[in-house]
Amino acid sequence: MASSAARMVSRSFTAASKTQLTAGLRTRPASFSRLMRRYATAAREQPRLRLGVTAPNFQAKTTCGDIDFHKFIDNSWAILFSHPADFTPVCTTELGAFARLKDEFEKRGVKMIGLSANDLQSHGEWIKDINEISKTNLQFPIIADADRKVAFLYDMVDQQDLENIDQKGIAFTIRSVFIIDPAKKIRLIMLYPASTGRNSSEVLRVIDALQLSDKKGVTTPIDWNAGQDVIVPPSVSTEDAKKKFTNVKEVKPYLRFTSGDLK
Ligand code: BEZ
Repeated sequence: MASSAARMVSRSFTAASKTQLTAGLRTRPASFSRLMRRYATAAREQPRLRLGVTAPNFQAKTTCGDIDFHKFIDNSWAILFSHPADFTPVCTTELGAFARLKDEFEKRGVKMIGLSANDLQSHGEWIKDINEISKTNLQFPIIADADRKVAFLYDMVDQQDLENIDQKGIAFTIRSVFIIDPAKKIRLIMLYPASTGRNSSEVLRVIDALQLSDKKGVTTPIDWNAGQDVIVPPSVSTEDAKKKFTNVKEVKPYLRFTSGDLK
């Protein structure tokens, strides 16, 4: 396992490696071309994942057993997040951080589920490292998406991924975050390149914003954090806002704030 980990870590994401890879294509076997065609087809057939669409359902093997994604979500909120590969440094810090935030996600009624294009055995070994390094006990499922079926369904790839494939046919996925509501609608998408770790506080912050917006019919301004003043949406007149909310402040007829500690 250690040697496979070392192989993963040593792979580079620079333009230079892309050039090397492209040069290597001349000597690739026919099976590689078939694989590339399959990936290109999968990329073309992948559904449009606009905010508000139903999150595509799938069945998958995970570190917590086989799942049907919609049944897994059930009536909860969910966060589906991908990372480039097991045994890579940034991913290891990310998964450790998410595992340590278990109580915060639970408090908000959000189920976590991760994904990378590696198999269950690899995930199992990697979780041991994550737990050791981050002093945690990672309990949420990680999807074993070795054939990248789910990664393509959710477009968790960048342009370079289509060429950035190793000898075993594994291509990296990017760092995607899908926040899905209990009606299984995609409510928010974040896409980060492999080089840039995510911000777990930002993930919790946007969940707070979405849930408050759903419950109270308000919107949230730039850099908002839970408890701070929120915005009365344009669909509510100031007169109605004053009946509905406390401490309504009109900065402009179209910009009205109210207290964020809405009961
Ligand atoms: C990382 O997790 O450190 C990583 C993974 C793939 C590419 C670059 C960085």
